Amino acid sequence: MSDRAAIERAVTELAAGRLVAVPTETVYGLAADATNGEAVAGIFEAKGRPRFNPLIVHVADRAMAERIARFDPLSAALADRFWPGPLTLVLPLQQASNIHPLVTVGLDTVALRMPQGLARDVIAALGKPIAAPSANTSGRISPTSAQAVQDDLGSKLAYILDGGSADVGVESTILKVEGDIVRLLRPGGLTVEEIEDAIGQDVVVGSAGPAIEAPGMLASHYAPDASVRLHAEHIEAGEALLAFGPDRASGFESAAAVRNLSEKGDLREAAANLYAHLQALDCYGARMIAVEPVPQHGLGAAINDRLSRAAAPRGQ
Ligand code: TXA
Ligand code: MG
Repeated sequence: MSDRAAIERAVTELAAGRLVAVPTETVYGLAADATNGEAVAGIFEAKGRPRFNPLIVHVADRAMAERIARFDPLSAALADRFWPGPLTLVLPLQQASNIHPLVTVGLDTVALRMPQGLARDVIAALGKPIAAPSANTSGRISPTSAQAVQDDLGSKLAYILDGGSADVGVESTILKVEGDIVRLLRPGGLTVEEIEDAIGQDVVVGSAGPAIEAPGMLASHYAPDASVRLHAEHIEAGEALLAFGPDRASGFESAAAVRNLSEKGDLREAAANLYAHLQALDCYGARMIAVEPVPQHGLGAAINDRLSRAAAPRGQ
């Protein structure tokens, strides 16, 4: 099917209130018409997503964004600079917005993003915003290919729009501007260094109070079936190894399986490979995935954030 025909099919399903997986530059999203409450309820049901966890609204252009949320000057500058792209802004909801309250779980703020790629074409053709969390069962690894979506949620979706593998590979960076402070609620595909460079001020990491500001940022998340062990410097026989860079942890010869995020130690390549490699290692059935250290700068911040959630003690 041509891209045009595939986009038309996606739009037809979304307009009818059904669920469609769409490729964005970060990860595949599980999309529904953000103005249709029943369709949005279907997202929570398909993912098994807790109802207190709000969804990101995806728009095609700034005019659509401004009908949904109020932009302060700093947020407007960030959108000018980085949209379309892997940046989500948390903004005050417009009174007259037609976003269904289920999307924001009744909050007076909304998380907004303008994605790149086929997802944006779909939104433009639909003429309405879409709500789209990552297209995985809640708590599991986010999908970076149509096949990964099919394997996890295929039976629950009306259509999967195949856009090949996602370029960035980790979810968008979430920011919230508070007065003259820019707060990082989730590290992601746009690096803190790039943001600080653009705005000429520091980004403040983490939430202001004890409450979790991005309610989806619970400790255990992005979890494979296997347990995950970080900063591995020695590999035990039978462990699967998620490697990084040219040098191997000792004992790697006895690993059950090895995948390297980036042989040359490139963080962009590592981010793009992260979820597919975790998924692949999980398929070998090893009880433990040992992970070599990944540097914390640039995209390393998002990679290490996801890996530490994959390694966190599981709730159930
Ligand atoms: O790259 C991405 O952002 C992908 C693609 C599909 O766009 N989407 C994604 O969605 O990662 P999801 O649902 O997996 O993560 C959305 C995050 C959650 O942590 C949620 O709590 C937070 O955004 N969020 C949504 N609305 C919010 C709000 N009003 N205030 C604070 N956090 C919010
Ligand atoms: Mg997710």
